[in-house]
Amino acid sequence: ELGEFEHYMLKEIFEQPQSIENAMRGRFNEDEATAVFGGLNMSAKDIRKVDRIVLTACGTSWHAGLVGEYLLEEFARIPTEVEYASELRYRNPPMSENTMIFAITQSGETADTLAAMRECKRKGHPTLAICNVVGSTIAREADGGIYLHAGPEVGVASTKAFTSQVTVLTLLALYFGRMRHLSYPAGSRIIRHLKEMPRIIEETLKCHEMVKYVADKYAKNNNFLYLGRLYNFPVALEGALKLKEISYIHAEGYPAAEMKHGPLALVDEVTPSVFVVPKCGIYPKVISNLEEVKARKGPVIAIACKGDDKIAELADDVIFVPDVEEYLQPLVTSIPLQLLSYHIALHRGCNVDRPRNLAKSVTVE
Ligand code: F6R
Repeated sequence: ELGEFEHYMLKEIFEQPQSIENAMRGRFNEDEATAVFGGLNMSAKDIRKVDRIVLTACGTSWHAGLVGEYLLEEFARIPTEVEYASELRYRNPPMSENTMIFAITQSGETADTLAAMRECKRKGHPTLAICNVVGSTIAREADGGIYLHAGPEVGVASTKAFTSQVTVLTLLALYFGRMRHLSYPAGSRIIRHLKEMPRIIEETLKCHEMVKYVADKYAKNNNFLYLGRLYNFPVALEGALKLKEISYIHAEGYPAAEMKHGPLALVDEVTPSVFVVPKCGIYPKVISNLEEVKARKGPVIAIACKGDDKIAELADDVIFVPDVEEYLQPLVTSIPLQLLSYHIALHRGCNVDRPRNLAKSVTVE
């Protein structure tokens, strides 16, 4: 089953061109420049009424939700919140009548996500699932939903499910956007860019050799910072989580500009900062955050766009990824971070597919 791969995690990382393709299959209506979903079980009229979206999830799925918030607010202009399911289930936030809930979950069995979903459903909100495992409890109990079609994810650390969740959330933002302010040409452009992603992810995976080199160099460091802004802030959180869970290395993710409000005190010669800094509207701002770290002698590993010559002068090591639209960057920038955690874990002799203390689906609260 593992084929040429040594571990499920690596196999699943390399499946991403295919899993992203599967998440999109049959979900474009090119004539109308929008997305289509078979299982939302709601009329267009009811969906049109939605004036607020709550995304609820745990762990990596929660990080995908953060990307989803940015996407939905940018393309559909619908106020969106992302809630930890474990908090939402016991909180009692005011929710307007037309709030729609999406539970995001790979396994469909996470106890907190299930409980948060039931609480929202009981209050009468349309409650849908973005889920991978067909027929799972959350998939069955939701009013409707969208399957990821990522295939089984065996490695405990979620990889391909994350990029599939982000892909589906992009399709959702397109769908909600086209019911509102997003024009036909804008919708067509998003479809064109999405369709290129499987090929671009294939291209991204070519960073593997460079990631191995970087992992070799830094595998002995015991603290890492992960920094990114806007669409790459959730990627920084996800990169840090991947490193923590499979390498047992302390890592923290932050929006890069938050550094000066405290975390900068952690920077020293043995604390590498992983800067997720592809080309974007605020690239110069991220660069100045990076320079603040360099000025304190912190080693910098940059995830940057191919063709960015400037970054090579500033960072100690650079892992290049293809240049894509800002809203699609999480799909490419998360991949070197998955690979980095994998190779560092290997160096440290950790069991990458079955990290200590963790379970693939967390069915206890
Ligand atoms: C991290 C990881 C966990 C899960 C979380 C939610 O790699 O796997 O953080 O993302 O336990 O699981 P699902 O998505 O199955 O609800």
